[in-house]
Amino acid sequence: MSERAYNFSAGPATLPAEVLEASASGLVDYDNSGVGIAEMSHRGPEFIAVLEEAEARCRSLLSIPDNYEVLFLQGGATQQFSLIPMNLLSGSADYLITGQWAKKAYDSAALISDKVKVVANSSDQNYNYIPEESSWELDSDADYLHVCSNNTIFGTQLKDFPKHNCLIADMSSDIMSRELDVSQFGVIYAGAQKNLGPSGVVLVIIRKDLLEREKATQLPPIFDYSKHAGANSCLNTAPTFGIYMLLQNFRWLDKNGGIAAMEQQNIAKAKLIYDAIDNSNGFYTGTVANAADRSNMNITFTLPTEELTAEFIKAAKEKGMVALKGYRSVGGIRASVYNAMPVAGCQALADLMVEFASRA
Ligand SMILES: Cc1ncc(COP(=O)(O)O)c(C=O)c1O
Repeated sequence: MSERAYNFSAGPATLPAEVLEASASGLVDYDNSGVGIAEMSHRGPEFIAVLEEAEARCRSLLSIPDNYEVLFLQGGATQQFSLIPMNLLSGSADYLITGQWAKKAYDSAALISDKVKVVANSSDQNYNYIPEESSWELDSDADYLHVCSNNTIFGTQLKDFPKHNCLIADMSSDIMSRELDVSQFGVIYAGAQKNLGPSGVVLVIIRKDLLEREKATQLPPIFDYSKHAGANSCLNTAPTFGIYMLLQNFRWLDKNGGIAAMEQQNIAKAKLIYDAIDNSNGFYTGTVANAADRSNMNITFTLPTEELTAEFIKAAKEKGMVALKGYRSVGGIRASVYNAMPVAGCQALADLMVEFASRA
């Protein structure tokens, strides 16, 4: 195998080599059975054991209280944009719009109900800030408040969460990257392909009382959270191999100190790169307006010209660092540094930034 690159992709994103190797081995031969995990029934004892261990480790890693269901579903975070209002919205709902994904969540809900409100919106500055909580226009009667905890494209992150009786968070790009009090939330959901495993699985953590909520219309079972919960995530054929990969990743997280250790490491990793931006005498410009809103997962910055940006990406590639090009609506560079990105990868990027600025 060739040496692994430092892969700064925003998602699908880098995973620990150990997780990939364990997954590859189970794909060919699960537990010396002569059959691969993706070839086994989702109702058989082998996969049920995988699912149970994945759920147990997920619960313990995030200290999920017993009054929450943990579901492993399909359809990505995007499907949740619709399932949330279908299952939980019968009156009105509040949305905080801090980026493209938060806007898409709002747009999906607005197709389902005309009582969906925007509490604050940072599109006036291309989403380069999180609106101050004191400015949010909350409706105390709303069925829920929806937020996106980390704006993958724009490099901003909600550092604190508002108190709300039904707070719903899209945590696709920072789940398990920092410690969390799950009891603050009604629903947490996350597409797996950044911090958890491969695409094709979405993790949904939902407070049990919400499964009983009256729905505006009757739902087909596949769109109904209570049906998924009642069937232990196996209402239909579960994404078995994806869940197996999540299990390998949960084992890796446990072996490496759990979420608390990840959080400390993620803070240190991000600091290496933010320091390189801030100490560059203006050569690099962070795209986020306020340092307090900077994401520890997706670090976005620009160089003085497009030519220098292209040269930087080329220089990085020569040193084994890939997928650094920023999203088209932001430009510049985006370094995604999820749990699986080692400190050495961030150090290598920071070193290149210093060297590149000095010779440009
Ligand atoms: C914050 C956030 N939400 C939602 C999505 C969409 O996820 P999916 O492609 O799993 O539907 C993404 C994907 O990049 C994301 O970063």
